[in-house]
Parts: sequence; structure tokens; C-alpha cells
Amino acid sequence: TKTFNIASIPGDGIGPEVTAEGFKILQTIEKLDPSLRFQSKEFPWGCEFYSRHGKMMDDDGIEQLKPFDAIYLGAVGYPGVPDHISLWDLLLRIRKSFDQYVNIRPITLLDGVTSPLRSEYADIDMLVIRENSEGEYAGAGDRLFQGTKEEVALQTGVFSRKGTERIIRYAFEEARAAGKSVTSISKGNALNYSMVFWDEVFEEVSRDYPGITTYSYLVDAASMFFVTDPARFEVVVTSNLFGDILTDLGAGLTGGLGLAAGANVNPTKEYPSMFEPIHGSAPDIAGGQKANPLAAIWSVSQMLDFFGEEAWGKKVLQAIEKTLTDGDVLTPDMGGTATTAEAGSKVASCLESMMEK
Ligand code: NAD
Ligand code: IPM
Ligand code: MN
Repeated sequence: TKTFNIASIPGDGIGPEVTAEGFKILQTIEKLDPSLRFQSKEFPWGCEFYSRHGKMMDDDGIEQLKPFDAIYLGAVGYPGVPDHISLWDLLLRIRKSFDQYVNIRPITLLDGVTSPLRSEYADIDMLVIRENSEGEYAGAGDRLFQGTKEEVALQTGVFSRKGTERIIRYAFEEARAAGKSVTSISKGNALNYSMVFWDEVFEEVSRDYPGITTYSYLVDAASMFFVTDPARFEVVVTSNLFGDILTDLGAGLTGGLGLAAGANVNPTKEYPSMFEPIHGSAPDIAGGQKANPLAAIWSVSQMLDFFGEEAWGKKVLQAIEKTLTDGDVLTPDMGGTATTAEAGSKVASCLESMMEK
């Protein structure tokens, strides 16, 4: 038997509702394949924990997470705790402490989903590789002359050669494995230090991959092309902040945040990687079983890939697609009336019936 140890951080808002469905899928796999075991331990960290303890996680929380094979996270952030505190003390702290420098976010229009785009443009299948350790999220900055009329707030984007090169190289490796092009999205015309440097590094790294077609777009124009001609993008590599924004845009084109998955990966495997849907805690629908669990379940599929169980990762994605094409058990964001748990059970039963064939 192969055992994988998963640290579960359900977190805030809809986080616990959607991660419960992710675990339902892992339990289904255990039933179908007795050679696999998923052992999990839950960590009750988040905004409720903060209200009791004045912090988002235990002081030695990072140490506690270290031994796990992976972390599965729902969402972090809830009204009542300032977002910059809740996120920097938990989600961003984990990404940084474990040097999860690759954020893999597939933007793919699955069968059964209607894109808001005109149908002839809706051939969408890209893999966004978002830099996940530095850039605009370096946490470098200051507030000068605070509270005075002369106040100045600084937020410095940090682009190291090591950090920039490794993410671009990762994207090229993904493209080489998949036989696809690489598109860099940056902003060298205005950001005359950081993004000029990014563009230079992209150019340098691309010379090591002569067989791979490359494109380079400015982020403003790229945003337009995401909407008017998404088919031109295959593997996309971009900075932390641009990747954050572009993947919510991409989610909007492919079924919404309820369907958008992500993986925060440390490719060295020195520390655990973290799997989480790209959406947040959705306070507007939290607590009512209204959330779509498919994004969180897709993140489980990414986790299975990461564990080397690609066959199962693929099956889970197929079960999600079957759920969408059947269309009879969907949550309200997809036009249905199902609860979060019903949608999760539907994916589980699709998985079971696929195995019977
Ligand atoms: P959000 O992603 O939580 O919600 C945006 C909109 O999408 C809302 O209308 C919500 O109802 C909808 N939505 C999101 N996920 C859904 C799902 N699974 N099913 C159906 N509808 C879904 O973004 P927000 O409202 O801007 O942020 C809320 C909180 O979450 C903030 O505190 C923010 O900082 C935090 N946040 C956390 C993460 C994370 O933990 N990774 C990501 C984004 C935002
Ligand atoms: C995401 C989220 C986070 C980010 C926030 C909550 C800090 O929006 O995972 O996309 O910006 O990375
Ligand atoms: Mn985001």
C-alpha cells in the first residue's frame, strides 16, 4: 500500500464546505484502489482561530506542516480580520516558507461548460504558470510619514535572477513535455526595471529551448487577447500579480471561480506543496452549501498528479467533466440547484461508474 499524508487546512468561509468534497473523492479512490491510502490531519487555522488566539496559525505551524506529503487548503480570509493580516499570516506564509515558487493554474474550457465568449473563440486550453514567491508579493515596502499629508506608501516588486529564471525555465520544461508554445506576459514598457529584466531573462532562457515557439505580450494587450482570442495561449508564464489577475479572468472565461483549480508547487520536493482552488472564502455564499466544489476537486486531481498517480488525476478530471456534461447535479453558480455535497457526491459516483466499465 502507498500512503500519502495530507495536511488539511479547510480555512474560512466556503473553504471547509469545498475541501470536504475533495476528501470525499480521495475516499472514493481508496475504495476503488486498495493499494492507495490518503491519511489526513486537519489544522483548524484561519480567521476563527485568529479571533480566539490572535494569530492565524500556531507559532510552530510551519514546522508542523513540514513532514506532510502535501497540504490541501480551502480558502483564507473573512470579514472581521483585515485581509493583509489573515493572508500574510497563513496562506502567503505557507507559500513562502515552503518556497512554493510555481503556481500552476490550468485555464481549460471543459466539455459541458458554456463560455461567455462567442463560441468560435471558445477553444480555451492554457496552462498558466504564475511566479509564486516574489515579484509584487515580496512583501517589501514601507509607509513613510504615516498619517500625515506627506504620506507615501511603497510596495517594491522584487525580481531576482534566481526567482525569474527558475519560473521561466519551469514553463519551458512544461511546454517541451507537452509540445506547446510558451507565452511570456509582462510589462516592460512601463515597469522599466523589473519587467525589462523579466523580458531579458525570458529571452535568455528561450535560447536553451530552440525548438519551442515563444511569444511575448504586454499584460494589457494580453488581457484583451484572453477574451478575443484565447486559443493563441498555450503555456503562459507571468509574474505573481499579473498571474493572480489573469487567472481570475481566465476562470471567468471557463465556467467561473467555482471551477478554477491551482497548485502551489515546490518542484524540489524539499518541502510540501499546497493544493487549493484559486477562489477565496466567498463570504457572500458561505455556510449554505451553495459553493461549487469542482475547483477544489480539480485541485485534488492536481495533487494526485503531483503524487505520481497521474492515472487517478486524469480520472478525477474526467469525472468532473462527466458531471458537467450530465448537467443534472450542478451548483447554483453553474445554473443548477444542487448543494455542495450533492455535487461532490455526483463526481464520486461518476468516478465509480467509470471504473465499472
Ligand atoms: P472570492 O473568490 O471568495 O469570491 C468572488 C466571487 O466568486 C463571489 O461572488 C463568490 O461567491 C464567487 N465564488 C467563489 N468561489 C466560488 C465557488 N466555489 N462556488 C461558487 N461561487 C464562488 O473572492 P473575494 O470575494 O474577492 O474574496 C473573499 C475573501 O477571500 C477575501 O478575504 C480574500 O482576501 C480571500 N481570498 C482568498 C483566497 C485564497 O485563500 N486562496 C483567494 C482569493 C481571495
Ligand atoms: C489567490 C489569492 C491570493 C493571491 C490572495 C488571497 C493573497 O487571490 O490565490 O489567487 O493573491 O495570491
Ligand atoms: Mn487571486
